[in-house]
Amino acid sequence: MTAPVAIRCEDLGKRFDDAWVLRGVDLEVRRGEVLGVIGPGGHGKSVLLKCLAGLLTPDAGRVLVDGEDLARLGPLGLARVREQYGYVFQNYALFDFMSVRDNVAFPLRQQAHLPDAEIDARVAARLAEVGLAHALDLLPRELSGGMKKRVGLARATVGDPAIALYDDPSAGLDPVTSSKIFQLIARMHARRPDAATVVVSHDVDRMRAICDRYVMLERGRVVFVGAESALGDAPEVVAAFFGGAERAPTGGG
Ligand SMILES: Nc1ncnc2c1ncn2[C@@H]1O[C@H](COP(=O)(O)OP(=O)(O)OP(=O)(O)O)[C@@H](O)[C@H]1O
Ligand SMILES: [Mg+2]
Repeated sequence: MTAPVAIRCEDLGKRFDDAWVLRGVDLEVRRGEVLGVIGPGGHGKSVLLKCLAGLLTPDAGRVLVDGEDLARLGPLGLARVREQYGYVFQNYALFDFMSVRDNVAFPLRQQAHLPDAEIDARVAARLAEVGLAHALDLLPRELSGGMKKRVGLARATVGDPAIALYDDPSAGLDPVTSSKIFQLIARMHARRPDAATVVVSHDVDRMRAICDRYVMLERGRVVFVGAESALGDAPEVVAAFFGGAERAPTGGG
């Protein structure tokens, strides 16, 4: 039995001026799975993620969340669908004028009617999980790139979202912190049986530990979709992404 589909793209196209960045992407993200998105830089991964979240509007095809076409939802409908999302932006997208504490508390204050003490406790706990317990009162401009990334992660996950989208979550992080972040993503995912998680990353080794399936985008098209075990049949360009020597599907790696 296959799990329900959380997000489905049908023939999704996105262009900026005359340049098509996504060209007919068909894709499913199922409840319960962690989907890894890989591919060369500049080939449409971030644009795809933003389309999945309804932050960019498709120029062709459509994106369905729980069967509802995002383009047919009004602002209220879209806001309702987005309530189940957590999003880690590649470029952090923190609120510059808010402290770390307020950035992370933001989604809880937006949605849930939680007492302040509960919000404070959840924010502190999530920041401790990403190793930033000491940074509560700092402003984004006082943080390193890696620290901003971790604040973005805390903000995206503090509400235990059902659909979590991570754009390059370990970018700019040291190896130990990167591993911790991927463990946190896996832990967040395991917290809900209906969780649908998408991770865009170049960190293929760490993705292996948490991803159930992969999609590879090249020039805005899907050139591979499947589990790692299907890599043996994948085009060379895909295998190369996973590290040539390890392409044998039964390899212990
Ligand atoms: N808002 C925008 N306006 C115009 N062009 C854009 C916009 N966003 C993305 N693009 C273009 O779309 C293409 C794909 O960009 P995207 O950010 O999706 O790449 P990516 O696969 O995420 O790359 P990376 O691995 O470096 O993060 C690029 O050519 C980029 O210049
Ligand atoms: Mg990107």
